[in-house]
Amino acid sequence: MKTVLVIESSISGKAGKSSQLIEQFLAKLPADVQLDRIDLASQPLPHLEMNEIAAWMTPEADRSLEQAALARHSDDLIARIKQADAIVLGVPMYNFGVPSQLKALFDRVARAGVTFKYTEQGPVGLLSEKPVVVFATRGGIYQGTNADSQTPFLQQFFNFIGLSEQYFIYAEGLNMGEEAAKAALDKAEQRIGELSRKLAA
Ligand SMILES: Cc1cc2nc3c(=O)[nH]c(=O)nc-3n(C[C@H](O)[C@H](O)[C@H](O)COP(=O)(O)O)c2cc1C
Repeated sequence: MKTVLVIESSISGKAGKSSQLIEQFLAKLPADVQLDRIDLASQPLPHLEMNEIAAWMTPEADRSLEQAALARHSDDLIARIKQADAIVLGVPMYNFGVPSQLKALFDRVARAGVTFKYTEQGPVGLLSEKPVVVFATRGGIYQGTNADSQTPFLQQFFNFIGLSEQYFIYAEGLNMGEEAAKAALDKAEQRIGELSRKLAA
């Protein structure tokens, strides 16, 4: 692993538990790993609008200055994803879903003909495989139940663009008292140790 793309989306910034777990994980990676960081809370992306999609569909040479600036959001994100050897995401649960900041990024990464294509057999992801590590932080407990709307969404999204090597590290029950929070973070730390050894091997 040479380059790791780190995508954080906690509105608590560095105080967010997902951001803290990410730092624990990164600290365990080999020292020569290069980090490419995106913090969606401090540098949010706007909601996707039709004029941005129109800019993607316009050949690069024909884009107006405004279209070139609009297309850059998606072009840059996809280039950074392609360049990375692994992707690490902090995914807090906000109102039963992923942060809208992260959804705004996903909306720019799923691009027909670039990251996926439709075929007679159904959609095919166009990105080359690389590990995706998700740090899922939650006030309550949902893992493995139908109330966990985040995990199937994230699995489906990454499968759709061709990234099926996915690892989920959960820290749940973070708002259920100090003891529960500590137990959840300890469990996540143990998983971080296991996964960092596996990915560094
Ligand atoms: C706006 C907001 C909405 C939240 N919604 C939920 C929720 O639907 N379910 C839940 O279990 N926790 C919810 N929480 C609690 C967070 O998931 C919890 O604080 C978690 O630690 C957030 O991750 P972070 O610390 O990385 O920011 C919410 C927190 C905020 C600020």
